Amino acid sequence: MEPRQRALAQAFESHFNAKPSFLVRAPGRVNLIGEHTDYNEGYVLPMAIDRAVRIALRPRLDRRMIVHSLEYNQTVEFQLDDLQKNKGWAEYVKGAAWAMQQAGWTLSGWDGVMTGDIPRGAGLSSSSAVTVAAILAFAAASDREPDPVRAALLGHQAEDGWVGVHGGIMDQMVSLLARAGHALFLDCRTLEYQHIPLPEGMVVAVLDTSTRRGLVDSAYNERRRQCDAAAKALGVRALRDVDEAGFRSRADRLDEATRRRARHVITENGRVLQAVEAMRGGDAAALGLLLDASHASLRDDFEVSSAALNAVVEIARRQPGCHGARLTGAGFAGCAVALVERERGPEFTAAVAKEYEQAAGMKPAISLTEAAAGAGIARLTG
Ligand code: GLA
Repeated sequence: MEPRQRALAQAFESHFNAKPSFLVRAPGRVNLIGEHTDYNEGYVLPMAIDRAVRIALRPRLDRRMIVHSLEYNQTVEFQLDDLQKNKGWAEYVKGAAWAMQQAGWTLSGWDGVMTGDIPRGAGLSSSSAVTVAAILAFAAASDREPDPVRAALLGHQAEDGWVGVHGGIMDQMVSLLARAGHALFLDCRTLEYQHIPLPEGMVVAVLDTSTRRGLVDSAYNERRRQCDAAAKALGVRALRDVDEAGFRSRADRLDEATRRRARHVITENGRVLQAVEAMRGGDAAALGLLLDASHASLRDDFEVSSAALNAVVEIARRQPGCHGARLTGAGFAGCAVALVERERGPEFTAAVAKEYEQAAGMKPAISLTEAAAGAGIARLTG
């Protein structure tokens, strides 16, 4: 057992006076490119990061749930036969139970201790990681290994239907399906995916601006509505169905703001496909330029950047060994990513930290990330 797992198993033992039977882990993510495309049935290219939500659990013989969060130092109890909505981190666990029961699963309860090291509200999908970890915990407690795509759909259903966070499918899919050293090229319509290796010699820097947004974001929902309106006016099921030429010939059907939102989504889908080609060719320079173009489109057309995100992206790009940078996740606050030569990583981190603090008056949190593996269940013996 690695030290983090051992510490969690020990926390379980001191809380429940028994050994856990399973450990589950679900990672957070950054998105390399393909932003605000998932709910338009388009393409995304995220990767898992080495920060995760972990649960140690032991199945119960009844349908009661007792879950303790180490970070919140709080224990929540509920009955699987009587799920009641409330507020807080445990809603993602309840939502998982709700979605699985809706889908016909017969669940057993479990005792669990949960911990996580994904910064919250930073756009690194900490809440989807909780949901995915909970789905795997319920599956483990019922002695079943779920199909990862089904599990992702259940996780999405939990957040959409129970918690009321209306995101796309990217976060749950990458948390479940990621492969170490690779990004996940995902078609959000068909849910077909491929693992694409990161260019040799490159790391992804995660640049946390230390600014935060709320969880249920009205601006996000407004963008979704504008995209739906654009698809309708263009006569297609989703913006995925429009290419750049088709868009140019019909763009005059849209008002100015809607046109810019649609243009972002349509060009971004094209950039994901080009990014996959660049990665396949090991062309870090081409990939970096696509990241830069994605940021410009998110800033000017989709209007989901912020002063802090623009600042950190510009500072990152100025550094030697940086091939490109962009905001990642929904936007408005949180994190950017940059593609950086591995051997320049430490000097990149130091320079960006210093310059960002001077420019923004806040300390950023910067980490160099190798793409991590997706979620998993470990059965503990003895
Ligand atoms: C949030 C959502 C994702 C996706 C991104 C934007 O992170 O959870 O599903 O829509 O925003 O790309």
